[in-house]
Amino acid sequence: MPEPYTGEPRVGFLNGERLYLRPVEPDDLPVMMRIANDPELRGLTGGVRPMSRSGADAWLASIEADPARLWFAVVLRERDRVIGEAGLLRIFHEWRAADMTVILADRSSWGKGYGTEAANLVIEHAFGALSLHRLAVGVVAANARAIRFWESLGFQREGIQRDGCFSAGRFHDFIMMSLLSTDHRPTRKGQLHPHGR
Ligand SMILES: CC(C)(COP(=O)(O)OP(=O)(O)OC[C@H]1O[C@@H](n2cnc3c(N)ncnc32)[C@H](O)[C@@H]1OP(=O)(O)O)[C@@H](O)C(=O)NCCC(=O)NCCS
Repeated sequence: MPEPYTGEPRVGFLNGERLYLRPVEPDDLPVMMRIANDPELRGLTGGVRPMSRSGADAWLASIEADPARLWFAVVLRERDRVIGEAGLLRIFHEWRAADMTVILADRSSWGKGYGTEAANLVIEHAFGALSLHRLAVGVVAANARAIRFWESLGFQREGIQRDGCFSAGRFHDFIMMSLLSTDHRPTRKGQLHPHGR
């Protein structure tokens, strides 16, 4: 169970105005299990593997041991509520490149700017402290919301993996998108916005 909300400001590893990102804790795993097991979310993300509680424990141990992954729980400051996960995977320092993900499990938290705030924290950390240059995402073509979301963060479409994903009984194109550190400039608040916005 999460700690009771005391009204005191929480300090995470990466800190935004309305939410913060901190390492995933065992108590957060029901949220990650929902992300893995929910049919609608699986359709949007291309996820295929079910996740049991023991599988979730093993997953947490594997991400902690994997230097190519940096994974966070997305926690709303209000009531200290975990609403999803965000992070980097396939970090390849030699190329200064990584893949990125943001998934909010709770539908009631979609469309309120939380994804944008979480993504900007990860992007700022990736291009700042980690000195990465390129972040990439792959999006199931039917996930129009996610494509718009990554575009609004400055990600550009760079290609299509035709039938790149098999999910819910059929093939889907997989839209490859990327963001370069040179595409962005920090704002006064340390958030990142595409040039010209
Ligand atoms: C995709 C996701 C991370 C976006 O986070 P969010 O908090 O819902 O998005 P935001 O409120 O920050 O909105 C960011 C942008 O996304 C787009 N967007 C948000 N809701 C949208 C909707 N219902 N329809 C189309 N575009 C939408 C808009 O461009 C919006 O920018 P704007 O507010 O300036 O118009 C979140 O909806 C989610 O986790 N969805 C399910 C899992 C998923 O698809 N993850 C991505 C896998 S690649």
